[in-house]
Amino acid sequence: MNRADLLIKELNLSEHPEGGYFKETYRSDGIIISHHLSMEFNGNRAYGTSIYFLLKSNSFSAFHKINQDEIWHFHEGSPVRIHQISPRGEYTSVVLGSDVLNKQQFQHVVPANYWFGATVENKDNYTLVGCTVSPGFDFDDFTLAKRAELISLFPEHQEIISTLTNS
Ligand code: GUN
Repeated sequence: MNRADLLIKELNLSEHPEGGYFKETYRSDGIIISHHLSMEFNGNRAYGTSIYFLLKSNSFSAFHKINQDEIWHFHEGSPVRIHQISPRGEYTSVVLGSDVLNKQQFQHVVPANYWFGATVENKDNYTLVGCTVSPGFDFDDFTLAKRAELISLFPEHQEIISTLTNS
């Protein structure tokens, strides 16, 4: 078995709807009551949560957005490119990896409400990262992009949107 498949087994990762594999590794016992959260949160949330996220080169993390900032932490494998489109339509990308002397970053924060996805930089490889959010993750705060809708919002980014959406 290759290392990516060994990690999926050993870390007990499951398929994520955005692509890749994940496992929640931390969910705070502390709960924030919805009354204390901003309007877009429809219910109570944990103070914070964290996951392992593994992505293989032959796949991608499809454009999605969430209501809170998400901190990505590089763990091992190939560098991974995070593609993001701000609510105003600015596209930027950063590479998460260990070569910090060559513009890679160990950590990156994707701001709340940005559309974002990811691709593995090296062929026949994988990346393992951590993704941490506060307030804690809830699929109610998660929107997977629909290709046609995202292209109609940001026609200038049609190419990357087509690459990083499934339908
Ligand atoms: N838990 C389940 N999916 C996710 C995700 O995409 N990000 C974070 N941070 N936690 C999750």
